[in-house]
Amino acid sequence: MASYDLILRGGACVLPWGVETTDIGVRDGRIAALGDLRLATAAEEIDCRNLHVLPGLIDAHVHLRDPGDAAVETLETGTKAALLGGLTAVFDMPNTAPSITDRERLDWKRDYLAGRAWVDVGLYVGASKKNIAELAALELQPNVCAVKVFAGSSTGDLLVEDDASLEAVMRSGRRRICYHSEDEYRLQERKPQFTSGMPHRNHMVWRDVECALLGTRRLMALARKTGRPAHILHVSTAEELAYLWDYRDVCTVEVLLNHLTQTDEAYDRLGGYAVMNPPIRDQRHLDAAWAAVRDGTVDVVGSDHAPHSRAAKERPWPDGAAGLTGVQTIVPLMLDHVSAGRLSLSRLADLMCAGPARVYGVVGKGRLAAGYDADFTLVDMRKQRTIEESWIVSPCGWTPFAGHRCTGWPAMAVLRGQVAMREDAVLGSPSGQGVAYLDARGH
Ligand code: DOR
Repeated sequence: MASYDLILRGGACVLPWGVETTDIGVRDGRIAALGDLRLATAAEEIDCRNLHVLPGLIDAHVHLRDPGDAAVETLETGTKAALLGGLTAVFDMPNTAPSITDRERLDWKRDYLAGRAWVDVGLYVGASKKNIAELAALELQPNVCAVKVFAGSSTGDLLVEDDASLEAVMRSGRRRICYHSEDEYRLQERKPQFTSGMPHRNHMVWRDVECALLGTRRLMALARKTGRPAHILHVSTAEELAYLWDYRDVCTVEVLLNHLTQTDEAYDRLGGYAVMNPPIRDQRHLDAAWAAVRDGTVDVVGSDHAPHSRAAKERPWPDGAAGLTGVQTIVPLMLDHVSAGRLSLSRLADLMCAGPARVYGVVGKGRLAAGYDADFTLVDMRKQRTIEESWIVSPCGWTPFAGHRCTGWPAMAVLRGQVAMREDAVLGSPSGQGVAYLDARGH
C-alpha cells in the first residue's frame, strides 16, 4: 500500500489543466501523486472537502526593507505577513538601506534568510550606474530572481535613467530584466509645478500617463534593439497595456493588486495612504487593467508591498513616502475579486504562481504536478471576513484596505510539505529557503 508523508484529501484542486476534485500525496516535500489515493496512508492528512487547493501562491513584488528600519518591516515580519496572507513565496526587492547591488550584500542576504524567512524567498539584484559590468555575473547567483532597474526614481537611491546606461544594462547578461518604468526626465521637469501641501490626488497628475508611457516606449525600443527580454513591473495605464500588446516578443507584464482594486477616490479617503509609484489612477485605467487580465496581456499580479512608517505616510504631499503595504492582503483581495466574478481561480493561479514561475524561470514551483514542490494555498471561498488593521503583522501596522470585506479567505498554507499556516496562526519555526531559478545556479 502506498504511503505518503501527507495527503490532501478531496479538495477542489486548481490543476494546470482545470479544476478537479482529487487527492494529492506528498513525499519528501514534493508532490508524489495526484489522483484517487483512498487506498493510501499518510502520517498526516488534511480534509480538503470544503476547500480549493491552489498551487502555493507567489508574490513576485515585495519590499521587505531588510536591511533597513526594523520598526517598519523586517524579513521575518514581512514573510510572516506573507504566510498569514496565504502566500508560500515572495520575491524581495533590492532598494533596501543599503541596496543589494553587489556580491557581498547578495551573499549576506542569502545567508540571512535561513531561520528568519517564513516563506521561500527570491532575491532581486539592484542595477546602479556603478555595477553595470557586474550585473551579468550577479544575475547568475543562486536565488536571484532578476535584476531590477529603477528607470524612474522612487524609494531609495537606485536609478538608471538615461538610454546609454539602460542599453549598457541590457547588454550585461541575458536573463529577463524587471523595470520600474516612469520617465525620470519628465518626472523631474514637472516636479516644480507642485508644492508642499497640495492635495494628494496631484500624485497622479505629476506622475501622469505620459510619464509611464514614455518610460515604457523607451525601454521597449532598447529591448528590441538589444534583444534583451523585459518585464515591466506595475503597468498602470490603459495606454501602456494597449501598446505592450505588440511587444510580447520582448516583454512580459505585471499589474498590481492596487491598480485592479483602487481608483482616485482613494486619495480623498486615505490621503498619504493612497500614495504609491506608479500612482493609483482613475476608473478608465482600472477597467483597462481588468481587460488586460481577461485577454492574457497580464502575466503576473503582485502587491508591491512597500511599507513605510505612519509618520512618513502622513507628511504633506509630496514630502511623504510612496508605497503601500499589501503582502498580507493580496490573496484575500484577489479571492474577493474571484467571488465578484472578475477572474477565475485558475486565472488567479496563473497570475500568482504559473506566471511568476514562467517569467522568472523558477525551478520546482508554478503548478500542481508530480515532482513539483508541495507548496499549497488552501482557500475557503465561502468564508467572509473583513480586513482589519489589528491583523497586520508588519510593524508599520497599517493597510490601505482596512474595512474591506472579502468573500474568500486563505485557510491554510503548506510549504514544501509542512503545514506552515492554519487559521490565522503560523506553525513551527521559519523554514523558508531561497527560491531556485533555472538560470541562477552560481558558478
Ligand atoms: O510606491 C512605491 N514604493 N513604488 C516603488 O517603486 C518603490 C516602493 C518603495 O520601495 O517604497
